Amino acid sequence: MQQRVLTGITTTGTLHLGNYVGALRPCIEASREPGVESFFFMADYHALIKCDDPARIERSRLQIAATWIAAGLDTERAVFYRQSDIPEIPELCWLLTCVTSKGQMNRAHAYKASVDANVAAGEEPDAGVTMGLYCYPILMAADILMFNAHRVPVGKDQVQHIEMARDVAARFNHLFGAGEEFFVLPEAQVDEEVELLPGLDGRKMSKSYDNVIPLFEGGEKALREAIARIVTDSKLPGEPKDPDNAHLVTIFDAFATAEERAAFRAELRAGLAWGEAKHRLFEQINRQIGPMRARYDALMAHPEEIEAILQQGAARARALARPLLDRLRHAVGLRRFQPLAASAAPVAKAKTALPIFKQYREADGQFYFKLSAHDGRVLLQSQGFAGGREAGEWVKRLKLEGAAALAGAPVALGDGVLADEVGQALTALQQAEA
Ligand code: TRP
Repeated sequence: MQQRVLTGITTTGTLHLGNYVGALRPCIEASREPGVESFFFMADYHALIKCDDPARIERSRLQIAATWIAAGLDTERAVFYRQSDIPEIPELCWLLTCVTSKGQMNRAHAYKASVDANVAAGEEPDAGVTMGLYCYPILMAADILMFNAHRVPVGKDQVQHIEMARDVAARFNHLFGAGEEFFVLPEAQVDEEVELLPGLDGRKMSKSYDNVIPLFEGGEKALREAIARIVTDSKLPGEPKDPDNAHLVTIFDAFATAEERAAFRAELRAGLAWGEAKHRLFEQINRQIGPMRARYDALMAHPEEIEAILQQGAARARALARPLLDRLRHAVGLRRFQPLAASAAPVAKAKTALPIFKQYREADGQFYFKLSAHDGRVLLQSQGFAGGREAGEWVKRLKLEGAAALAGAPVALGDGVLADEVGQALTALQQAEA
């Protein structure tokens, strides 16, 4: 079974070294594992909740997109998109909003924090709270459920949101599924170890503490200057340092191999000056992110390249989102008009836009089949068969057994097609056949 991993970053600023070590790097590494389908996106609708400065929104979504690519994301493999390019997400958000209880949103941490701050300041409890902030968790649930993600890598502060997404998914399945599970129940994945990259002052690196080391912005100079501001104890050059009590060393560790870590510690114990240690740290980090920064700068100079990548990502995402949303619309009763008695029979829903199998013979004398989506894209391509009968039997099996027959079938996925889209196509055919 493919594991689906999905996460988004709100586009209100730029990313720092802590974001890279704690989120980007592990996500990019995980996306290279076999058996994992990754979905990464710019949460730009979420950004609108926190920010009403259009120029900042524009800049941030471009910078964050460039950062993912420059950091090594394989955008052919992972599905990489802007939330606002997928109209199915707000559409799903509304369907979910209609089954989410207000009481549950009252308990959301982010909303409660605003209310507490207002009350403490002697204001109206809801002062300055928009409906966007209030419903933030529902939009996030739509992000996750739209693609049936199994795992959602997030920081601790987001765990409650994933639990809310599970709740609303279960409620929707129960109310409208008629025995079918429309939504996978997602799980939060919180990586304790990497999450805690310390900032300049030793607290968790975070914009809100003003202790960040920039990732790409400001170039080498900004990196060097930030590192120079890392707080250390006042031991003099030549005095032995305690590497286990220095957050500078923790930052070094995040970019070093086991041997490099041991060597750095030994030098500090032997009296390496902090100034020199900072120089080593700069070299260590810059060796890794320097080439990425060059790519980042090149991408920022050619936004049209990023735009093309994201358009392609949106097309892949929508090829999954649209068919699911069509099923959901049908499930809640938003159906094509037909005589009312007939609408009780759910079979009619598959009428439109079914994928089709085609069998044919190639110049090599072999027999083949392929499965095409309603828009003509090839979803599955078979290998060649010596006889037409064998090809025909596979087609029959795939139609009857649906996705269950896929595992052993002599077929390959079409270019850029995800296993799940094929699964959905086969299920639709199977239901039409029944
Ligand atoms: N709320 C997340 C954050 O601020 C960003 C986000 C939006 C997200 N939608 C998501 C994360 C879906 C994971 C899954 O960090």
